[in-house]
Amino acid sequence: MPIPTIKPVQLQYKPGFAQLGTDLLAVFIDEDQIEGGQLKSTELKNLDQSLGGIICNLVKLGDFSGKWMQTSQSIVTTSEVARRVMLVGGGKKTDRSAARAREFGMKVGEYVTDRKVRDVALLGFSQHLREASQLAQSAIGLSMGVYKYPALNQTPETRIEAETPVKLCLVGAGKWTPQLASETESIMAATTFCRYLQDSPPNVATPKRIAEWAAERASSLGLKVTIRGRSELEKLGFGAMLAVSSGSAQEPQFVVIEHAPAGAKKTLALVGKGLTMDTGGYSLKTPSTNQVGMQYDMSGAAVVLASVLAIAEQKLPVKVFAVAALVENMVDAHAYRVNDVIKTYSGKTVEIRNTDAEGRVVLCDALSFVAKELKPDLIVEYSTLTGAMVVSLGNYAAGVFSYPDDKPAKVVEGAAEASGERVWTLPVWEEAFNDIKTSPVADLTNIGATAGSAGSIVAAAYLFEFVESTPFAHVDIAGVAYGNAAIGHPRKSGSGYGVQLSYQIARSMGS
Ligand code: BES
Ligand code: MN
Ligand code: ZN
Repeated sequence: MPIPTIKPVQLQYKPGFAQLGTDLLAVFIDEDQIEGGQLKSTELKNLDQSLGGIICNLVKLGDFSGKWMQTSQSIVTTSEVARRVMLVGGGKKTDRSAARAREFGMKVGEYVTDRKVRDVALLGFSQHLREASQLAQSAIGLSMGVYKYPALNQTPETRIEAETPVKLCLVGAGKWTPQLASETESIMAATTFCRYLQDSPPNVATPKRIAEWAAERASSLGLKVTIRGRSELEKLGFGAMLAVSSGSAQEPQFVVIEHAPAGAKKTLALVGKGLTMDTGGYSLKTPSTNQVGMQYDMSGAAVVLASVLAIAEQKLPVKVFAVAALVENMVDAHAYRVNDVIKTYSGKTVEIRNTDAEGRVVLCDALSFVAKELKPDLIVEYSTLTGAMVVSLGNYAAGVFSYPDDKPAKVVEGAAEASGERVWTLPVWEEAFNDIKTSPVADLTNIGATAGSAGSIVAAAYLFEFVESTPFAHVDIAGVAYGNAAIGHPRKSGSGYGVQLSYQIARSMGS
């Protein structure tokens, strides 16, 4: 099953708006650009003049004041700059520019898809669109806004519509370079790929299918791909990952993609939880409506499989392993049970107390394999691990955990700053380790003795049992993997959150 083309965005750049001749010009205007019903900067006045006074008229009529995400209708002009103009408010917030530039692009992108616009330009009178890197984020946002999962009941007409590219011209702002253009294209493509993996239904995006799709993309870039199925995992002793998988008709897949540029000094391992469906197993998710959306439980895997493509395309000078543990958590006669004791790859035994706490059980084998066999300088792992994360940080941020020191968390925080993909670091306290050591028959239990309290911290502590002394940051993306409008990510469907975070982490480790 080939991956379809999804609304490619063709990037262009122009230093000024004169004779732009676009179908739709979207202008991002901060509140402080407007004062007492007047436009403040000469530049904005010039644009207004070329558009026949549209902006000034809207402002005078009180229809537009630049408030955050305030959006005008698109207005038809007779100007040679643009056939239509649309204004989006930039507000007066001073933080998180990358996310805000992206949100502007996304807003315009959604409009563009609604109206089938094929040719659009973005221009900013905003502190969030002053530098070329911010312009790049607005382009990535636009590409996220025009993304739509290609429906499985496509007609020839809808297919043509979905495959028709959007021409995007970025105007003005800073030093736009071919290198930045190419980086932006790589990130757009990786984000779209990540979201396609996320949005594909669980009977389509099985572990095998995801592994195939990722291998196809990675091989075309000349990357080394290793896929291990059930028999290899049995030989390796992946008792934990296999236990989770045992109730499923789908074969588990353990995928390792390697980007190994000559001369790289550091090694980064990106690890992702890949539950293509999480029913909960015998500790079944009840009411069954809690199973809805659990197709997104493979989002961590999607993030690492997609971001390594952008990292490799851009030849970042750091060795990167993308490691995805793909399985399905189902119920049948072979499924694992509560009170089962399983032997993990590390040698530690685990008593299962809840089959719905399966993510950590799958990840523990992946993590100890990575620590022992790949010996990276840093492991960053993404998982939709705990419902408690959704309760504590909602879709405002992903939770980050590191132990025994906060160095790995700081690396992730730095990347979050650069990418606008917000994170919040939470503690891993020593007491949490006691909470998972109460089994009379095994080294560990897969949930805490005080089940229900500090769920995200206890889950993190469990993972830290398996990395030995390798620096490790666990990123719980349960609240941000899909539908996280709160921080400038798509409202519906898989968010692609984590692709840029990974890219920036890899970049920060490059020599
Ligand atoms: N995949 C879920 C976590 C989740 C819940 C992600 C809601 C996104 C939205 C995970 O496998 C799970 O079921 N965790 C349990 C653990 C519990 C049984 C200790 C949870 O958080 O309820
Ligand atoms: Mn679960
Ligand atoms: Zn899960």
